[in-house]
Amino acid sequence: MCGIVGYIGKREALPILMDGLKRLEYRGYDSAGISVFSGGKVVTERAVGKVAELENKINGKKISGCIGIAHTRWATHGKPTEKNAHPHCDCQKNIFLVHNGIIENYKELKEDLEKAGHKFSSETDTEIVAHLIEEYEKQVPLKEAVWRTLAHISGTYGLAIVDQKNPGKIIIARNGSPLVLGVMEDGYIIASDIAPIVCYTDRVIYLDDGEMAELTDESHKITNFKRKKVEKEISKIDWSVEEAEKKGYPHFMLKEITEQPEAVENSIRGRLVAPEGIAKLGGLRDVAEKTRHLKRIVVVSCGTSYYAGLVGKYMLEEYAGIRTDVEHASEFRYRKPLLDENTAVVAISQSGETADTLAAIREAKNKGALTLGIVNVVGSTIARETDAGVYNHAGPEIGVASTKAFTSQLSILALLTLFLGRQREMSLVTGKRIAEELAEIPHLMRRILKKANDIKMIAEKYSEYSNFLYLGRKYNYPIAMEGALKIKEISYVHAEGYPFGEMKHGPIALIDKNFPTMAIATSDSVYEKTLSGIQEVKARSGKVIAIATKGDREIQKMVDDVIYIPKTLEMLTPLLSVIPLQLFAYYCAVSKGLDVDKPRNLAKSVTVE
Ligand code: G6P
Repeated sequence: MCGIVGYIGKREALPILMDGLKRLEYRGYDSAGISVFSGGKVVTERAVGKVAELENKINGKKISGCIGIAHTRWATHGKPTEKNAHPHCDCQKNIFLVHNGIIENYKELKEDLEKAGHKFSSETDTEIVAHLIEEYEKQVPLKEAVWRTLAHISGTYGLAIVDQKNPGKIIIARNGSPLVLGVMEDGYIIASDIAPIVCYTDRVIYLDDGEMAELTDESHKITNFKRKKVEKEISKIDWSVEEAEKKGYPHFMLKEITEQPEAVENSIRGRLVAPEGIAKLGGLRDVAEKTRHLKRIVVVSCGTSYYAGLVGKYMLEEYAGIRTDVEHASEFRYRKPLLDENTAVVAISQSGETADTLAAIREAKNKGALTLGIVNVVGSTIARETDAGVYNHAGPEIGVASTKAFTSQLSILALLTLFLGRQREMSLVTGKRIAEELAEIPHLMRRILKKANDIKMIAEKYSEYSNFLYLGRKYNYPIAMEGALKIKEISYVHAEGYPFGEMKHGPIALIDKNFPTMAIATSDSVYEKTLSGIQEVKARSGKVIAIATKGDREIQKMVDDVIYIPKTLEMLTPLLSVIPLQLFAYYCAVSKGLDVDKPRNLAKSVTVE
């Protein structure tokens, strides 16, 4: 959802900015731009499309200087054109800035500024910020002008600002959109997340909402919007550069699908005590007494994380005996949710920055609920704002379509089920069983991944179909929805994810020989019912690809293609059944020649509502 990079220091800014934009490109790729102090003035270049377009445009131009800002855009206000691309500037072309977020009151402010004689060159909400600073700067110095501007704008923003009349500094500000400051030996790098920062330093300062920083090549001064100095801690990042790179894979998505065994191993490492059948969750230690008395859990999340939550509902209700509701965060925040002190609201978020999920957590806090986070990005806003939580430790996920974060979320939910279940009535025997089976999952995942080529062939066979039905029951119903989401996201193929039993109440009307069904039919407590559903599809000439449990020979006679996965505990099946669906979507997209890691119109981290 738009990516910002900035650099101030002793090195050439342009290569750092361009490298940073590439690493942030998954946040938006409608257009990109840079502003660099070069030869005493700010040189700005912008281009429509991916960062590579900007790179082509800049190629051969002499842009040299040690201070600059850059942006890759995911359009909200105004089409993805060059004039709407960031950086934006004021009338005099002194103030240049990049912005991630939405300025909600931009219309009123724009009208006032136009009356005062300002001329706008874009349709964006962002541009008003540059003009407002210009207006205030007529009376006061830059920093004060920025403070006054921030007091007037409402909405969300991560901002980085340079001013030709004030060389030697960058001003950054944060309200609702992430901004991280990397502290280097010889300067500072700022970015919307740590991906561009890890290459230069592991020392970072996470700006909080309502904070602003003035940076020179040697110092940083952080204040709040009320102009009061704020002392911030320097944190250490534990992700390595190698982890954030493709390592020879053609796409991040394939790399991340393949990394799932390690991601789950990292999620459960040191947390499972199999002989005692318990989960040790250090992040929940301080709230363990509260969690013992919880009567209800409400999961709030979006996209793939929402489907992880739905699997969690089945786990938590069946094994921990706690009523669990799962809500789209974007809905939760606008209705009047009934919460009390016996309810925990659990935010599941890979990025920890999704605006809707964050807003839901804030609402839950206001209502007095305990808030917990299942978050992958350490130090992200949701991780910091929740009362307690569990980190995924899945490593950086760059591909826009979430894969390893999803299975790691499922493994954390299984740990949470153990943790809460053993605080309640779950027996030692059941606890041990879950713990032992969970520990085996990475090994079973590797067995599926070894068969990736077979799945590739099936995907190629079906890649020309333009509609799919994805069906699953019980634990695999959310997986059907996640599988459908994957193929929609990266292959642009229409797919409906449905509970198998609901098929006969509507979607069955769609089925014919051109509308294949992906049926998750693992050998579990609902297997027989699932088989009946498959028969209903076959009776209507529908083609069926089944995800079945290894050893199930019967199903082969019934369906067109089968992908086998190993047997595990029913509750943990989703950790395995989703992998063929991820690979199926991936290979479909590849065979269509699509840009798997940057699907059109999407962004990895959606930091606007
Ligand atoms: C975006 C991404 C999805 C992701 C969702 C939630 O829509 O494209 O892949 O599942 O946000 O993201 P989160 O970081 O909160 O898990």
